[in-house]
Amino acid sequence: MSVPRDDGFVHLADYTPPAWRILHAELAFELDPDDTQVSARLQLEPDPAQPGQVLVLDGVDLELVDIRLDGRALSPADYAYDGRHLRLPGPRQPCVLETRVRIRPAANTRLEGLYRSGALLLTQCEAQGFRRITFFADRPDVMPRWRIVLRAPKAAYPVLLANGNPAGTRDLDDGRHEAAWDNPHPTPAYLFAIAAGPLERVSTALDTAEGRRVELNVWAEAADVARCAYALGAVERSLRWDEQRFGRCYDLDVFNVVAAQDFTMGAMENKGLNIFNARYILADEATATDADFLAIESVVAHEYLHNWSGNRVTLRDWFQLSLKEGLTVFRDSEFSADLHSRALKRIEAVRLLRGRQFAEDAGALAHAVRPDRYREISNFYTLTIYEKGAEIVRLLHTLLGETAFRAGMDRYFADNDGRAATLEDFLAAHAAASGRDLSQFMRWYTQGGTPELRIHADFSGGDYRLVVEQHTPPTPGQDTKAPLLIPLRLALHDAQGRAITAAPRTDARLRDDGVELLAARHELVWSGLPAPPLAAFNQGFAAPVKLHFDYSADELARLARLERDPFNRWDLVQRLATGALLGGLDPAAAESALSDALADLLDDDAADPAFVTECLALPDFDTLAEAVDEVDVDALVARREDLVMRLTENLAAPLSTRYAALAGVAAGGLDGPAMAARALRNACLAWLTRLDPTAAQAQAQFDRAANMTARLAALRCLVHFDAPGAEAALESFRVAHRDDPLVTDKWIAVVATRPHPETRDAVAALMDSPWWKPANPNRVRAVLGSFARSNPLGFHRRDGAGYQLVAGQVRALDTVNPQVAARLLGAFESWRKLAGPARAQAGAALSALRGKLASPDSRDLLARLLDT
Ligand code: TRP
Ligand code: ZN
Repeated sequence: MSVPRDDGFVHLADYTPPAWRILHAELAFELDPDDTQVSARLQLEPDPAQPGQVLVLDGVDLELVDIRLDGRALSPADYAYDGRHLRLPGPRQPCVLETRVRIRPAANTRLEGLYRSGALLLTQCEAQGFRRITFFADRPDVMPRWRIVLRAPKAAYPVLLANGNPAGTRDLDDGRHEAAWDNPHPTPAYLFAIAAGPLERVSTALDTAEGRRVELNVWAEAADVARCAYALGAVERSLRWDEQRFGRCYDLDVFNVVAAQDFTMGAMENKGLNIFNARYILADEATATDADFLAIESVVAHEYLHNWSGNRVTLRDWFQLSLKEGLTVFRDSEFSADLHSRALKRIEAVRLLRGRQFAEDAGALAHAVRPDRYREISNFYTLTIYEKGAEIVRLLHTLLGETAFRAGMDRYFADNDGRAATLEDFLAAHAAASGRDLSQFMRWYTQGGTPELRIHADFSGGDYRLVVEQHTPPTPGQDTKAPLLIPLRLALHDAQGRAITAAPRTDARLRDDGVELLAARHELVWSGLPAPPLAAFNQGFAAPVKLHFDYSADELARLARLERDPFNRWDLVQRLATGALLGGLDPAAAESALSDALADLLDDDAADPAFVTECLALPDFDTLAEAVDEVDVDALVARREDLVMRLTENLAAPLSTRYAALAGVAAGGLDGPAMAARALRNACLAWLTRLDPTAAQAQAQFDRAANMTARLAALRCLVHFDAPGAEAALESFRVAHRDDPLVTDKWIAVVATRPHPETRDAVAALMDSPWWKPANPNRVRAVLGSFARSNPLGFHRRDGAGYQLVAGQVRALDTVNPQVAARLLGAFESWRKLAGPARAQAGAALSALRGKLASPDSRDLLARLLDT
């Protein structure tokens, strides 16, 4: 399955089931940061349908110490190892293979396989890290049951964790000790994990709905354990929610979560032993913002929810990645929506989709949610797999309704429990449970690119006619696309603002809330109307498409007033702003409608302040850049800034009023109203600071802040608006948090995103300072990720020095952590859309990397960026 063809790609079409199965895996670790020995005892069995195949195991850069087949030591003539694969031509029958290898965790900066982070030893195996630990069939459809034994010096490694249930501990000689773990569930190697070290915990216990007593633990190093309580609560809420909403119970006696300072991604759902980037665990009000708390809860939920969507039902092959990731993002977003505000959660998701996933779908790295080939799977942990994948599950939910969707999910879990499944299995379960044919729906997974709907209206003789055309633009490797099944919600309003409830005549399929589009073109006709109605489409952004319809600024403003659903109101305000900035609407009319809408919201004491905050946050640079054909960075940033400046001048009074009035509520704790009040106050502060060169309000908020949310927002205002107190504030923040890497990352990101071309040099200076830690992915993201992704004026600086800086660092980081380097290279995904000189400079910076990159990860990305 993972054997590349001559073209260097692994192809979906080449999938074959494993020729050898692994029924049971027994692993013993002698842990040491410089020299760990791993003994493996694998019970193997050939697939009866494929007899006579050579036994081939994955194993990357392992030092083989000992190898035995059915107890007999093998001689070098019995096997071949080339540093990547171990070939054993001998065995034909079920057998037991025992190997012993040596690995070096402390030298492992890739953070894949077994590595050291601070005083801890940890693993990260997804997608293909397990082969760096021992010889194994490292593919998700090989799912043994496991026994894991860990041995280590007790003083340095007092806690020894692995997947599954604890199966006993004992002291050994020489101050060492041992812990055994049993994982009774069939589990692929990518979900293997161990964690060892001076860990401390917060803990609770509960009984599942099935009556199983479960111990929940969140572990961290001693200095951090006081900041684990919130994450523990989030674990408990996630477990309860999956019981209630999906009827899924936890299935082991213990659920462990470990926080690590060095971690490439967000977190990892290893069976019974989730390992997290510390930034998604550690929080208290003095060091974490409200946004951090919400992100922690949502990532904790994401990883916990994988226990069913990913672990109990796993993947047949890596092409099915979205089967677990898209589905689990859908599940975690429903969790957040059920616990907090559904509308706000939807706004957050749609922002991410429009700002980032649409750009990915339109750029050099575009791919289908289920690609049909890849060179390097670690480059496919993308917004398309995760966020668009979640949108497709949401579409299915919209199409079927909650009851049929839940029945389909139950069927999916029942039919595929303990198995390695495909996206076809997922849709087959939903088709069977609902009786619907979902074959056309499958195209959402196989076709890349964002679908576009163009809707034309015309009114004559009492007939209102809508022509709806769909089109998906070409993406790399896919020139033409077939029509998708799209549920399109729509509503018509008459001149008095009343809903027109009559159904249209149409060749599309009617739904209660609109139509289902099946073909490239459909018509909808309403007859006998006295006047042209006002139409609204795609409420709730139910379909993840770009929709084009000619509205006037007046019509948008009218719709915004008619609309009761907060998400839709937000969306209309965004459209007004986009129209004002990018044309398409009469700019003066759009701007005054926008200003009025924002003034109304600021005056409306009944409106949720969190919602008002979202409306004040105009479309960001990424969203605007995505919506135009050619990007002139400086002009776009300037136009947006000018609009915000004029709006601020109009709205100064209500902004000041709201800022002052919310002070009391904002001083509260972590409850929803207090968080919402802080969000709106911080938004008001950012707008108002534009009008005050002394930034007195921001300075006062910084000096008096009682929590990180208020302090960091004030610091950002001071630094980004070049306030006189900026340097002193930065210095005091720096000193106060110098021993906390996560808070240090916060001021670094503030510095790296200061909207000015000179920031490029400030970033270069940071990399010459003791703050630069290239082996720590969070630090690399704070310095370079935030610069390349969130500082258009710096990254796209006119002389090309921003591109050169980032490209040069990709080259350096590639030898430290290839996944981090490749991700950073992704900041160039839309380079071909840049106007004139910028495009040439970005292209030159990329071309200069040709032949200079060490890892397959970065090489694959560079080849796709340059279309070679
Ligand atoms: N499966 C993880 C998730 O929850 C993603 C992940 C964590 C990952 N670590 C990784 C992916 C390392 C690739 C490499 O989404
Ligand atoms: Zn995931």
